[in-house]
Amino acid sequence: MALVGSGSALPATSISNQELSQRVATDDGWIRSRTGIGARRVAGPAESVTSLAAAAGRAALERAGWQPNDLDLLLLATSSPDDLFGTAPRVQAALGATNAVAFDLTAACSGFLFALITAAQYLRTGAMQRVLVIGADQLSRWINWDDRSTCVLFGDGAGALALRSCPLDEDGLVAFRMRSDGSRNACLTLAQVDDQQPLLGDLTAQVGGFRSIQMNGQEVYKFAVREVPAVLAELLEGSGIDAHQLDWLLLHQANQRILDAVADRFAVPHERVLSNLASYGNTSAATIPLMLDEAVRDGRIQPGHLIASSGFGAGLSWGGALLRWHGPAG
Ligand code: UT7
Repeated sequence: MALVGSGSALPATSISNQELSQRVATDDGWIRSRTGIGARRVAGPAESVTSLAAAAGRAALERAGWQPNDLDLLLLATSSPDDLFGTAPRVQAALGATNAVAFDLTAACSGFLFALITAAQYLRTGAMQRVLVIGADQLSRWINWDDRSTCVLFGDGAGALALRSCPLDEDGLVAFRMRSDGSRNACLTLAQVDDQQPLLGDLTAQVGGFRSIQMNGQEVYKFAVREVPAVLAELLEGSGIDAHQLDWLLLHQANQRILDAVADRFAVPHERVLSNLASYGNTSAATIPLMLDEAVRDGRIQPGHLIASSGFGAGLSWGGALLRWHGPAG
């Protein structure tokens, strides 16, 4: 699998910490010092997971030099779909990717990494030749804006990667690991409401709908700073790669303190740790491709660069991947 093009899209509206403190009892100093977040984007009425995902996908296709009908598969990682039956087909239609099969994959903040690894399986078997993987979330829909312990963290956005099949010795997915631990599910949920509606006599049926995001921040923090270094250490060791050979550390953007802790564990200099938390906060499945696209566009990530990536979050789920950026040439 070769990583050949990236794209991203963000809602137009940005809300600063200062502005948010007019709504909920918080302040810029607390948010910045605890998380590194300075602002977040929030989708307006004309924006949606579909529109953001399609814009990100379109940009990735253009950078790869592909036409929409070149695509065999469109995989959308999202936990905040526009339609629970699947949002990927809407994105497929918006792009005009008529030859692509399109479906959603849900794994919260690990979703993009899991989708990328899933796409690699289709490409490596030869079943597919060109795939678009998109991570897009609109968690602003599911935030309790009166809960200061969660509402300051999240934002909306989308990122995409164009992937194509290639000879095995050029494979850009150098190594990967995926993990789940449902016994710790309660640490971070966006769960179905428990309401019942009368159906027939004594029978009732559940009312569809979801509660807002509930998170035990400290537990999730401890989970992240333990599991992310462990999975990355396993990957590096298994691949015979030393951390000093990494060009970039590209982690799910949840908290700057998590990024710093992981970098310190591997003695990766902080200038090689990609972070855009200050501008966008935690955009869930979008953080990794959004950050990657920014760093490709400003020239930090160059063809041949080796990137250690890790996604982690609700499930609980986590994973790691060693990636080599190819770029559109060749
Ligand atoms: O993408 C999914 C993965 N998610 C994560 O990785 C999140 C991991 N967790 C975290 O990043 C951190 O736990 C948080 C940023 C969520 C919280 O930081 P913390 O250092 O763990 O703070 P805390 O929850 O222990 O709260 C400390 C204090 C509390 O006050 P008291 O009880 O000490 O008086 C909170 O009420 O900070 C208070 N607090 C706030 N104060 C101002 C909580 N939220 C806020 C806020 N503004 N927004």
